[in-house]
Formats: sequence, C-alpha cells, structure tokens
Amino acid sequence: MGSLLVTGGAGYVGSHAVRQLQCKGEKIVVLDDLSEGHRQATAGVDLVVADLADTTRIGSVLDELFQKETFDVVLHFAGRAYVGESVRDPERYYRINVGGGIELLSAMARNGVPRIIFSSTCATYGEPDTVPILEDHPQRPLSAYGRTKLAFELALKDFEIAHGIRHINFRYFNAAGAHPDGTLGEDHRPETHLIPLVCDAALGLRPAVDIFGTDYPTPDGTCIRDYIHVVDLADAHILGVEALRSGASSTSYNLGMGHGYSVLEVVESVKRVSGRDVTARHTPRRPGDPPSLVASSQKASDELGWKPSFKDLDDIVKTAWQFKQSYPQGYSKT
Ligand code: UFG
Repeated sequence: MGSLLVTGGAGYVGSHAVRQLQCKGEKIVVLDDLSEGHRQATAGVDLVVADLADTTRIGSVLDELFQKETFDVVLHFAGRAYVGESVRDPERYYRINVGGGIELLSAMARNGVPRIIFSSTCATYGEPDTVPILEDHPQRPLSAYGRTKLAFELALKDFEIAHGIRHINFRYFNAAGAHPDGTLGEDHRPETHLIPLVCDAALGLRPAVDIFGTDYPTPDGTCIRDYIHVVDLADAHILGVEALRSGASSTSYNLGMGHGYSVLEVVESVKRVSGRDVTARHTPRRPGDPPSLVASSQKASDELGWKPSFKDLDDIVKTAWQFKQSYPQGYSKT
C-alpha cells in the first residue's frame, strides 16, 4: 500500500477527506496552493504549497514528490468551483481545472502512478430531464465550471487508454455541513453557498439572506437541492481508494442523499437549529440555477457500499451552525 497524494487537501471537501483517510491510517501528502484552502485545515499533515497550474514549476515539484515516495492513489480535489466566476472568467477555469489537472495526470503517467479519484460535480449534468439523476444521464453542463469538470472527466478516459491510469469520478451534489468535532468546516471567500450564508444571517453577520427566485416549478417556488454532508462525501473517498486498490474498473458515482430540500426549507432548518430569526429577501432568479437537482446514489451504494450517515437536513445544518459559532470569521488567515 502506497501513500496518498491529495490535491486541494486544504479546501472544504479535501480537508474532510484527509481527516477521514488519516483515521484509517493512510499516509498522506497534501498539495495545495492555499488560494482557497486554509493551512489551519491541514494541521498535522505534510503540506506542499504549489499551484498545479503553474506550468513553470509544477512538473518538477510533482516529479520530485513521486520519485521520493511511492504514491498509489491521487485524490484530486484542487480546482475552482464558483459557477458565476467561471462564466465571467472561463480562461481561469480552463487553466486551473483542465490545465492544472493535465499537469497532474502527465506527472502521474511519467512516474507510473496508477490511480486517481476526481472531485466532479452534478453541474456536469446541467438541467436534468429526469430526477433523481442517474450516472448515465446525458451530461450537458450549463457553465464554464461544469464544462471544465466534464472536460477533465473526458481527459481521464484518454489517460486510461494511453497510460492505464484507472479513475473514479465522484459527482458531488451540494456538499454541506462541517466536521462534527468542530475543527473543520466551510470557509469560502467570498461565500456563495446557501447554508453558510443563512448561518451568517442567523448570527447577525449579514442583515438578510437573498432567496434567488420564488417562481420555480417546485412546491414552494424555490430551488430544490440535494444537500450531502461533507463527512459522508469524505467517507466515499475511503471506499473509492479501497475499490481502486482492489482492481475496480474506472467509473463515475453520484454522491447525494437522494432527497431534495428547497431554499425555504433550508432557511427554516437554520432557524430551528439556531433558535434565531433570519430575514429572507425575495430576489430574482440567479442565472443558470436548475429548478431541482437530486441524486440517485444507488450505484455508489450497490458497488461501494456507501451509505450516508447524515440523513436529515437539520442534522447537517447543526454541524454547519456549530462551526460558524466557533469560527464566525472563518479560519485564521495564516
Ligand atoms: N441560493 C439562494 N441564495 C443565496 C445562495 C444560494 O437562494 O444567497 C440558492 C441557489 O439559487 C440554489 C441553492 O440556494 O438554488 C443552493 O445554492 P448554492 O450556491 O449553495 O449551491 P449550488 O446548488 O449553486 O451549487 C452547487 C455546488 C457547485 C455546483 C452546483 C451545481 O456548490 O459547485 O451545485 O448546480 F456547481
């Protein structure tokens, strides 16, 4: 059994995966440029600070890492994930999410590193024809973000054909919550995700939360999303590593709870959990938001034995609220 290289291991999902993998006794090296990630979230883990998209340097950094130590699986979380930003600045998304990923795959091919797990997204499906979404649903992303994630899924196929690198694509639905021990959580700057924003409003750190659209074809008119606890996502990676090590073929898995909640239900949940009031402001739709995204994760359950342990929105929100109370301004800036 070799070591694991975790790109983006200082980020939100990556840091939770590192924590869970460490509990399994895995030897881990994190590679992160700390542009979005937080050093504090990697406490006690070997950290190499490097940018995958820095073509002047990254090839030699990766070669040195791969030659110094035997890595048998790479977990690739690094990348940018703001849909709106990707529409405004596609160059950045192609350079980082595709170009950076290709630097990684090329170094793996050069050094004989045989397996990779990729953080993909439900955004690769676009607006679904049917819900819940199965893995063989057509992938028609609506944003540059979704297209760059799909482009890397396609690159993985070609690197398997040419170099035999096997892969798993995990298509996350809405990652949410925080580690129950209170030390890891969600800290994006700027924050754009619903649950932390509603928590901020409950804490009085922002005056209100905007409800982006109340005229969707859903029961209460607001968008429905499948919120999946970040530790459940992290645990899927443990199973993915085991599957690839046991010889599993390359494939893709949706990771969601299989149950959707509306934006208004999320606001109500934060109010219940926090015991505080939240002012909700109805605003127009945010462009590119599909009305309803709910996963079928049956395949991950059947093939990997993955079962989310957080099955209730309030339980997810409790962990997000706990982190917000401990770190109202997020991690320290060091
Ligand atoms: N929302 C609001 N107000 C806000 C923020 C969000 O009403 O202030 C709504 C959104 O319109 C959406 C829901 O809350 O309906 C969830 O929004 P998030 O921004 O929290 O999450 P998204 O569903 O937009 O994004 C997630 C992932 C992305 C991924 C996308 C695919 O975080 O990485 O799903 O649709 F690309």
